[in-house]
Amino acid sequence: MLGMVIDQASLSEIERLVLQHAGQAREHAYVPYSKFQVGAAVLAEDGQIYGGCNIENAAYGSTNCAERSALYHAVSRGMKPGTFRMLAVIGETERPITPCGACRQVIAELCPPEMPVILANLQGQVMRTTVSALLPGAFTSQALESGNRDEDHEPSSKDRMRSEGETL
Ligand code: THU
Repeated sequence: MLGMVIDQASLSEIERLVLQHAGQAREHAYVPYSKFQVGAAVLAEDGQIYGGCNIENAAYGSTNCAERSALYHAVSRGMKPGTFRMLAVIGETERPITPCGACRQVIAELCPPEMPVILANLQGQVMRTTVSALLPGAFTSQALESGNRDEDHEPSSKDRMRSEGETL
């Protein structure tokens, strides 16, 4: 369970504003295949809000979800990964929409773990959650760093073959 469903009326002013931007971005969704419009918006630390919508493709796998569009929009405008303050997502679902697995991974990469995420539907239902609640135990850059530490690195047979080759 990601969180309790609450009414949109109980949101703070800033939460409502970010969600409003997500709703506006949703209007731009390019969804000729699913006809399922999604909007997202991310709040940057300087107070700016960046929206994004889902953009589909005839090669279905090339579709970009609204959450990733919003985050890529913000990063492309110079916002630094790790500095975001809030993300909101809205779609026409029975209960507040929940991000797909690929988006959860991207959200975990670009947003702080405790950052609030507001999930909503068009009926005014909202759920408040966080990045880490969406993807507990995410694979992150820390795992890559620990794997690359020289002192931890047991040379594989490939590595040994390579270094032996170099000395010949
Ligand atoms: N989609 C999103 O944009 N965000 C979500 O949270 C769920 C799914 C999009 C992808 C595709 O364009 C359509 O919704 C149907 O899956």
